Amino acid sequence: MRYRAIIFDLDGVICHTDKYHYMAWKQVADELHIYFDETINNRLRGVSRMESFEIILERYDGTMSQEEKIKYTTQKNEVYKELLKNMSPADLSDEVKETLDALREQGHKLAIGSSSKNAGFILNQLGLGDYFDAVSDGNNITNSKPDPEVFVKAAQFVGENPKDCLVVEDAKAGLEAAIAGGMECAAIGDAVSCGLATWNLNTFSDLKKVTG
Ligand code: BG6
Ligand code: MG
Repeated sequence: MRYRAIIFDLDGVICHTDKYHYMAWKQVADELHIYFDETINNRLRGVSRMESFEIILERYDGTMSQEEKIKYTTQKNEVYKELLKNMSPADLSDEVKETLDALREQGHKLAIGSSSKNAGFILNQLGLGDYFDAVSDGNNITNSKPDPEVFVKAAQFVGENPKDCLVVEDAKAGLEAAIAGGMECAAIGDAVSCGLATWNLNTFSDLKKVTG
């Protein structure tokens, strides 16, 4: 077996939360009269909540205190969490679930490595609350992707050496984090075009071919 553990990014890999992030950030941006669109939203993938807000503030005409930044990121998260209540096990595709089950059957440990502080909530909404062998997320790190911390911790949580782990990512920052942590990585979605990954996946179930 080439990999002992597989570490999955959550947003954009296991499920799709882009539209909820967009709706919640859009509300904040509109209130501050900042231009914000889906292309800018795509730049926030893999980036922590506060760093995401800093990217949005690139178009802000003024300065903002740390206190105000905390106020607006908290406001965004409250809207986002309300929207996440719309998620259910129906948002977990059959392809993703069947592939995860097959990988586990092959003997791989399965972990989450996500920048999100809402990862536990999202996993519960999807019906995956107890599924993974470990969850490393925004609550146990101080440095967000492209720093490798979240993946290094995930490897530690499952008791494996980074070189024996494969990271699955949809964001450039995530691929960079995996590489910085000494792990091989598989790109899916927009991350494929970065050309950084060990494997480029057309679809999630391709993972079964590369993990063997
Ligand atoms: C990542 C998302 O998974 O989590 C980012 O790709 C998001 O867009 C980050 O900013 C932090 O999420 P949260 O849920 O802690 O605000
Ligand atoms: Mg992602």
